[in-house]
Amino acid sequence: NPHKPLAGKTVLVTAGPTQESLDPVRYLTNHSTGKMGYAIAKKAVDLGARVTLVSGPVNIEKPAGLEKFIGIKSAVEMFEAVKGELDNNEIVIKSAAVADYRPISVADNKIKKKEGNLNIELERNPDILKYIGEHKGDKILVGFAAETENILYNGKRKLESKNLDFIVINNVKEADAGFGFDTNIVVFLDKNDVQKEFGKMLKEEVAGEILKKIVELTAEKQ
Ligand code: C5P
Repeated sequence: NPHKPLAGKTVLVTAGPTQESLDPVRYLTNHSTGKMGYAIAKKAVDLGARVTLVSGPVNIEKPAGLEKFIGIKSAVEMFEAVKGELDNNEIVIKSAAVADYRPISVADNKIKKKEGNLNIELERNPDILKYIGEHKGDKILVGFAAETENILYNGKRKLESKNLDFIVINNVKEADAGFGFDTNIVVFLDKNDVQKEFGKMLKEEVAGEILKKIVELTAEKQ
C-alpha cells in the first residue's frame, strides 16, 4: 500500500521533558512540550507503523492509534522504559528533551528554606540515545540536537558519537524554533554526510519530512 509505507514496521518514539525530583514537591525540568515527538508518533501511525510512545509529562493529547503508551517522569524511568521496548522496535526516534543531570539525592521531606544560599549537587543521567547506539543491531536510529552555536559541527559530532542514522539539528536560537513553538527550523544530517536544510516549517511538516527520510532508509535496507 503506497499510502502505508511503514505498514508492519515497529517504531519507538520518545517525547517531552523529564522531571528530576529534588524533594516530594519540587523538580528540575526544561521547556519541552512534547509537540515534536507527538507529531512524529502521529505521522508514523498514519503511515501504518505500530508505534510505541514513551513520554515525559506533557499537556497535549495522545495521538490516536498507538500500539502502546508509556508515561514516565524522570530520565532514569525513561531509560528503563526504552530498554524494555528496544528489542520490539526496528526504528527508534529520540525526540525527548532528557535532563542531562539529576539531583544526587531526593530529600524525603520538603527542603526547608534557611538563611543564605542553597547548593544542590547534581549527577549525570544516563545518555539513553548513546546506549541505544551501542546496542543498535540493524535498527534505524534518529536523534535530535538542540544547538545554539556551531550547529553543523555539533550535530555531526552527536551523529557520530551516538551512532545515529540521521540527526535532526534544531537551531533553538532562531525565532519561532524549538521549545514551545508550533514551528521549527531544522537541518537533517545523515551518516553518509548528506545534509538537507529546511526553512521554517510546522512541527507536523517536520514530522512528515522525518518519516519520509525514514521510509527512504527502510527501503535502502531491503
Ligand atoms: O547530547 P544531547 O542531549 O544534546 O543529544 C540530544 C539527543 O540525545 C536527543 O535525541 C535526546 O533525546 C537524546 N538524549 C538522550 N539521553 C540523554 C540526553 C539526550 O537520549 N540523557
